[in-house]
Amino acid sequence: MQRKRLIAANWKMHILPAGSCTPDSVYRTRANVDVWVFPSYMDLHSTQYHGLVTGAQCGRAEDDGAFTGDISMQMIADQRYHAVICGHSERRRYHNETDEMIARQVAAALRTGLIPILCAGETADQHDRGEAEDIVRKQISSVRMDPAVIIAYEPVWAIGTGKTPNPSDVEKMHLFIRSLLPAPEKMRIIYGGSVNGKNAASFFAQPNIDGALVGGSSLKPDEFRSIVEAA
Ligand code: PGA
Repeated sequence: MQRKRLIAANWKMHILPAGSCTPDSVYRTRANVDVWVFPSYMDLHSTQYHGLVTGAQCGRAEDDGAFTGDISMQMIADQRYHAVICGHSERRRYHNETDEMIARQVAAALRTGLIPILCAGETADQHDRGEAEDIVRKQISSVRMDPAVIIAYEPVWAIGTGKTPNPSDVEKMHLFIRSLLPAPEKMRIIYGGSVNGKNAASFFAQPNIDGALVGGSSLKPDEFRSIVEAA
């Protein structure tokens, strides 16, 4: 089955890249490749207003309440944003998000009509101990899975480090992840971790890598263009 490729730009806590909202922006979605952007909360309105397919980097499961500093999935959905990242390793690490919290976030995203991108991946130590599959299985199976969910396999040791796993090892992991999913042929599994204009094509050559979640390289429009073109 042909799954449409998705390139997701995770801009983290950075300002909008130059030219991102211009008519000829490289961040616009294309007929044959989905291109979605995930700016900081401060810039969500702006990218959506300018016609970029926009999602949030995280959201809270509760619809409202006394949660200073947080924004709910419901609020994100009310503004008609498209998608939300759940369980990014930086949220797990710096905000102590657990599998249980992430499961509730994914459920809230689905309930409010957002497309969740669920991140899963092992740390360097877990990788060295040969525990990658066990960790990823645990992270994915703690979520009540739905065919609308997109999975991002992001080995923590590859994020922002310039180190990448071998594309054939990623392909193996994606096949393993696919075996855990309710609609394996239909669901998209994208890879994240130091994807750049040079290595993107080697990942997309693998039949089970359906796109990329891109951090650092998504802040550089020319680099990002090469990644989208490779897809
Ligand atoms: P990176 O980040 O592309 O800078 O490694 C990926 C991510 O954090 O999603």
